[in-house]
Amino acid sequence: MTSEQLKMKKMRIMRHTLMAGLVIMGLVPPALAQTPTQETPPAAPVKFLVPRLADIPDDANGKQILYGRRLVMETARLLPSNVGDVLNCTSCHLGGGTVAGASPFIGQSSASYPRDNPRAGHKVTLEDRINGCFQRSMNGKPLANDSAEMKAMVAYFNWLSADVPPHAKVEGAGIGKIDKTLVPDAAHGKELYGTKCAVCHGTDGQGLKNAKGEFVFPPLWGDRSFNVGAGMARTYTAAAFIKRNMPIGYGLNGPLGQGGALTEQEAVDVAEYFSHQPRPDFPAKVNDWPNGGKPKDARY
Ligand code: HEC
Ligand code: HEC
Repeated sequence: MTSEQLKMKKMRIMRHTLMAGLVIMGLVPPALAQTPTQETPPAAPVKFLVPRLADIPDDANGKQILYGRRLVMETARLLPSNVGDVLNCTSCHLGGGTVAGASPFIGQSSASYPRDNPRAGHKVTLEDRINGCFQRSMNGKPLANDSAEMKAMVAYFNWLSADVPPHAKVEGAGIGKIDKTLVPDAAHGKELYGTKCAVCHGTDGQGLKNAKGEFVFPPLWGDRSFNVGAGMARTYTAAAFIKRNMPIGYGLNGPLGQGGALTEQEAVDVAEYFSHQPRPDFPAKVNDWPNGGKPKDARY
């Protein structure tokens, strides 16, 4: 990176941080903080680039970014009042949101929100989106927007996304596509679960702990898993994630997807099986998709 690029990047980080602060203090409405939205997003998706942890600035902002990263990696342990299951954000957003095809956080910044959200029926902020995962994927409670924890997470997301122009499409964003016309076969999925997944996630889906009692392989269903309102509880969302990321492989930097280990049909079958096992309810589900458009694999 040239010094000029580095300077631009620092300015982008500062702008994100400053704007997020002003929004939280109520001085700037969220919509106004998005001045960069007026820039025309580039037509082609931008390259998927993970910034180096070593480049985190050695200052107050850097401390916040590092705290945000820790919260993403050790969510259940550090935020017991907000997490009702035993998952961490990194359980699904692999590598702390740095793995393409595993719903990465690169491109998820204050500058790329608010965004339309059909499930909510209105535009949501980045904080709303994070809290959506706290309430559903973590089966827990939202963080206050002005809490040190929320600010730290947003600082980490903004740092990861500092090279992404506002609202640009990023290669490897999301969990990728899956053919939604494939008809799931849960009985075949159960068989596949036994041969391809149970070794790590447990024969009963309850995950596996190490000798210290910490989960090394997270549960896939039961009381300690995500609730029915989570994206992962939906057959085709789970299938897309599994197709690219499970069974997990390990790269130099930690977990990496082993895309292609299962066919699309197998991913759909195993997703149908494990996602429909018993899991916590989500009473606020009654408010979802208020304007219609509920996907066919929604659990309610
Ligand atoms: C059980 C798996 C799971 C866990 C744990 C989880 N998420 Fe998610 N998250 C998802 C899925 C799946 C999506 C995409 C949902 C969809 O498109 O339907 C998502 C979407 C998101 C998005 C929007 C991404 C985009 O591309 O639009 C953000 C931001 C996010 N999650 C943040 C978090 C944070 C922060 C945590 C931890 C507090 C967390 N998530 C925990 C599964 C999870
Ligand atoms: C080699 C061990 C291993 C195998 C085999 C494996 N997984 Fe995983 N899986 C993991 C790990 C580890 C994570 C969490 C990643 C992290 O925390 O960094 C994970 C996370 C998940 C998640 C998101 C977190 C959660 O608990 O809901 C789902 C869903 C999942 N795996 C499904 C499957 C399915 C389905 C299969 C079989 C096709 C499978 N996995 C096979 C190791 C494995």
